[in-house]
Amino acid sequence: MLNIALPKGRLGEKVYKLFAKAGYEFEGILDSSRRLVFENEALHMRCFWVKPFDVPVYVERGTADIGAAGKDILLERSPDVYELLDLGVGKCRMAVAAREDFVDEPERTLRVATEFPNIAGNYYAELGRDIDIITLRGSLELAPVLGLSDVIVDIVETGTTLRENNLRVVNYFADLSARLIANKSAYKFKREIITEIMRRLRGHD
Ligand code: PRP
Repeated sequence: MLNIALPKGRLGEKVYKLFAKAGYEFEGILDSSRRLVFENEALHMRCFWVKPFDVPVYVERGTADIGAAGKDILLERSPDVYELLDLGVGKCRMAVAAREDFVDEPERTLRVATEFPNIAGNYYAELGRDIDIITLRGSLELAPVLGLSDVIVDIVETGTTLRENNLRVVNYFADLSARLIANKSAYKFKREIITEIMRRLRGHD
């Protein structure tokens, strides 16, 4: 049995559609129910929805042999897994953003609100900039608007959220998308099926 962890939500649905197109279907998986685990006995595969941030945990520990995770989450958590394939969906960028009228004062500690403290920390460490990280769980745009932070480090896809909150991109610094990841020992012992899945996901049937 091959176990697959998919991120619950919009990205996961896009990824599942790639799997379905590649011939790996799980009945009822896109129905709006609260069920989390789906099995395809003929394929000897089991698929489950997990919180996007948790996909690398399931894969690293081997509960899932493979999974799909956003590159943002892989950069943030640095899991000990193999990154096998860029799935080409969920394309967006990591950016620093601030209020339209923001003027940086490099000698001052910068207050950075983010859901990705490691990514933000690494980015500013490379720049040698002192920062104060404020970790939030979403709706980051509020932080500079209300004065909680000077900037945010967040995902930008269309830029609509920033625009609607009168924020602007200061700098883009990483390209993101969904990646296929594998547990290291599963990749060794279930290599044939995992390689076949990769081949089919790439579209070479
Ligand atoms: C992300 C991100 C921004 C938004 C950017 O949030 O945090 O808020 O998307 O997209 P845009 O540039 O197309 O407006 P997401 O929708 O993933 O939800 P979240 O706020 O719960 O992280």
